[in-house]
Amino acid sequence: MTSVKDRFLSMLIKSSDYISGESASKALGVSRAAVNSAVMTLRKEGYGIDSSTNRGYLLTSRPDRISQGDIGAFLPDERVSDVTVLPVVDSTNTYCKDLARKGAPEGTVVISDCQTGGKGRRGRSFSSPAGVGIYLSYLMRPSTGIDRISEITCWASVAVCKAIKDCYGLDTQIKWVNDVLMNRMKICGILTEASVEAESGTIDSLIIGIGINVNEKRSDFAEELKDIASSISIENGGKIFMRSELAAALIKNLDALVSGWPDHHADYLEAYRSFCITPNNRIATYATMAGDSEARMGEALSITDDFSLEVRYDGSDETTCLKSGEVSVRGLYGYT
Ligand code: BTN
Repeated sequence: MTSVKDRFLSMLIKSSDYISGESASKALGVSRAAVNSAVMTLRKEGYGIDSSTNRGYLLTSRPDRISQGDIGAFLPDERVSDVTVLPVVDSTNTYCKDLARKGAPEGTVVISDCQTGGKGRRGRSFSSPAGVGIYLSYLMRPSTGIDRISEITCWASVAVCKAIKDCYGLDTQIKWVNDVLMNRMKICGILTEASVEAESGTIDSLIIGIGINVNEKRSDFAEELKDIASSISIENGGKIFMRSELAAALIKNLDALVSGWPDHHADYLEAYRSFCITPNNRIATYATMAGDSEARMGEALSITDDFSLEVRYDGSDETTCLKSGEVSVRGLYGYT
């Protein structure tokens, strides 16, 4: 249920002209006093709202916030009701998984301004400070076998690249499998978690968890990530980007992914190949992902039709197709 304050904020963002108190109270189905109280709260939260006796209210400035009202302004009204926005949570994936268990429908979205226990791939943590990033989980119910999860995560990385282009007009790249890069630095990670029907082996629910570094500064990253991670802001001269627009663009692109799955395979494969910069590079793979086992060196050749990475290891005449996992790519993430 979206609050009066959030619904009025969406109205204000969408309107380039003053909205009278009367028309607002009619549209929202609440009293004029309720509209006044929403205005007062929004002002306290940092929104600039001009009020003029005969004309009503006009939004004059807006902070970079993640709220249902901010995001709702860029989505169809009916879409917002399945979007839960939280100020802080341990992990949006865990929260969304819980909703899935309780029967939430496909398309359910959980977004938080901050995560205290953000999860990364391979048991790592994902740094999720408040006020700078997008931490979003999307519930999909694809009724597909688990062997296709990796493919869906590749589609999700395409959705992220498209959303950033749609929203900010900026280009990104993909490092196989699903790291999204800007200027060869990681700005987004994706963690998909599935719950599987034991008997049939099909996916009951799939949580696509996406973390995007939007407005972080260099000092926000831990020392060990300095050669790897960056933010959209850092890569664009410190400019601050509005996160709610990108969150909405992401939801639209994930909705398109869900309605295109699996029939739009050819389109997503073509897009993935055009974004992915791993082929034609020297790579290293490790038996254990901690990187403490001996590296196998080789050449990344291509992305196969099922989104696997075709690799030729040094000293071998044959090629190997990696379906999932991680590879180090020479020239990326400090690997020389
Ligand atoms: C990685 O690159 O290791 C994947 C990081 C995925 C982070 C996102 S943030 C939203 C969602 N909630 C989590 O706890 N993790 C994912």
